[in-house]
Amino acid sequence: MMRSAQTFFLMVFMLLAGITIPGCSPGDAPESPKVKPGESDELRATQATAVDVAEGKRVAEGSCIRCHGANGISTTKGVPHLAGQRPAYLHLELRAYQSGARGDKAMDGAVMFLSDDALFKVAAYYASLDPAQPDATTAAKAALAKPDPVSAGKAAAAGCAGCHGEAGVSKTPGMPSLIGLDPKYLVTAMKAYKSGQRKNEMMKTMLSAITEADLNNIALYYALQKPDRAQNPNAGDQAAGKAAAAACAGCHGDQGVSGNPATPSLAGQDAQYLAAALRAYKDASRSDETMKALAAALDDNAMKNLAAFYAAQQPRPPNVRKPLTTAEWTQRCDRCHGINGNSIDPLLPALAAQRVDYLEKVLHAYRGGERRNTTMAAMAAGLTEAEVDNLADHYAHQKARAVVYVMPPGK
Ligand code: HEC
Ligand code: HEC
Ligand code: HEC
Ligand code: HEC
Repeated sequence: MMRSAQTFFLMVFMLLAGITIPGCSPGDAPESPKVKPGESDELRATQATAVDVAEGKRVAEGSCIRCHGANGISTTKGVPHLAGQRPAYLHLELRAYQSGARGDKAMDGAVMFLSDDALFKVAAYYASLDPAQPDATTAAKAALAKPDPVSAGKAAAAGCAGCHGEAGVSKTPGMPSLIGLDPKYLVTAMKAYKSGQRKNEMMKTMLSAITEADLNNIALYYALQKPDRAQNPNAGDQAAGKAAAAACAGCHGDQGVSGNPATPSLAGQDAQYLAAALRAYKDASRSDETMKALAAALDDNAMKNLAAFYAAQQPRPPNVRKPLTTAEWTQRCDRCHGINGNSIDPLLPALAAQRVDYLEKVLHAYRGGERRNTTMAAMAAGLTEAEVDNLADHYAHQKARAVVYVMPPGK
């Protein structure tokens, strides 16, 4: 299905909006270029004549404009702009609605009784219209680069360094390091302080004004810092601690590096904090049933030894990737969807200046599997909610360029 337009005897011109399809002018011959059966049926809509486009307009007036607008520019949430969209893509999507493959109640009803000929003509009609353009003021606002999540996390964590150390490596005995921990664990811990489930007034106050998005950003920032052992004194018998740690390895890992995001890594953590945490589990001031049972069996000396062993281990970075920036993402998307979302392949949709709510809806539908397409499912699978927002915002604010597909003279 993803055949390239270049293989066809079509000439593709990138033109600024405002220029209509040659062949639409009234004097042109209505002679329809005949498509060889089975050869370029998918691209039929690129070969429409002025008469086809005029007939397509009548179909649109009868069946489509109440939702898509008289000029193919939608004013309704969730309803896409069609004006200037690539013709073969429109035709394919109309067939997908008709066969039930795309599945949308509003659209299934609209195309139910139309012939394939009508679908081809209405697709050609919408493709011939001038595309919507982004609103200049919101476009300027969108152009102001949003900070990426890691930089946002670094900024939000500025007030934490005094206790938790520069880049999360503790230099104050009793203060935990925040590096080498899975972001999921960090987020859970911070939320537990905020809700009061984990009791610590200082941490509750510190986190009270931090938004949920910033909690995620902070956790990501620390997870991506280079892990190092806490730079604090470490008394206690490491050899004795190592022997006792056999009972902990099943959950916290052999060297204190946990493979489970719900279980914190202990390697390189501040020794005094580790011992205090074990005491807190034992006296139930920190609530966790598993750790309470385990800590109950430990005396103060055993806790110090365990803490000494874990503090001396080498922390490891958790398994998280640095997220792509919006610019890095759009580089990938533009390979198929064209520069700034201005596709030059008649089978691939343009994204430029499309409605932001529609772009978001569709990316969610690919990710959730409601709209089925192998390529887009793979592209959308890894997108976070923030990435969906940023990509939709980016494409909705690009200048849309119409592409005109022209038959070379004499054909
Ligand atoms: C009752 C309102 C309604 C009517 C009438 C309607 N549409 Fe739609 N159309 C929608 C909605 C809503 C969507 C988005 C559905 C989805 O997410 O799959 C849509 C999506 C589409 C798409 C997919 C666009 C894309 O970028 O993938 C095409 C093509 C389309 N409509 C063409 C038409 C044509 C042609 C007609 C007339 C024959 C028509 N529509 C009539 C509401 C309508
Ligand atoms: C005034 C000192 C101080 C400041 C500032 C501070 N913290 Fe803490 N933080 C602590 C102490 C003390 C603990 C251990 C509390 C306990 O025993 O539960 C802690 C614990 C934590 C933990 C739990 C670590 C673990 O291994 O479970 C996280 C996560 C955390 N802080 C994040 C932050 C963030 C993010 C900030 C900045 C927004 C911050 N802290 C600012 C003192 C501080
Ligand atoms: C059955 C699994 C399991 C075993 C075995 C286990 N732990 Fe834990 N441990 C956990 C979980 C889960 C947490 C997180 C609990 C919470 O959110 O407070 C935890 C938390 C901790 C913490 C707090 C870390 C921090 O950053 O705040 C310490 C310290 C700790 N365990 C030490 C030990 C030691 C020492 C042993 C062996 C004696 C041990 N654990 C055995 C599951 C386990
Ligand atoms: C390898 C080629 C390829 C890449 C890369 C790609 N896409 Fe697509 N995209 C497609 C194809 C093919 C379709 C049409 C699928 C269908 O029929 O549902 C599509 C459809 C879409 C649509 C639906 C448009 C509409 O009008 O309904 C959106 C939105 C979209 N892609 C966004 C993106 C974004 C954002 C990225 C980058 C994260 C991306 N695509 C990367 C090939 C690609």
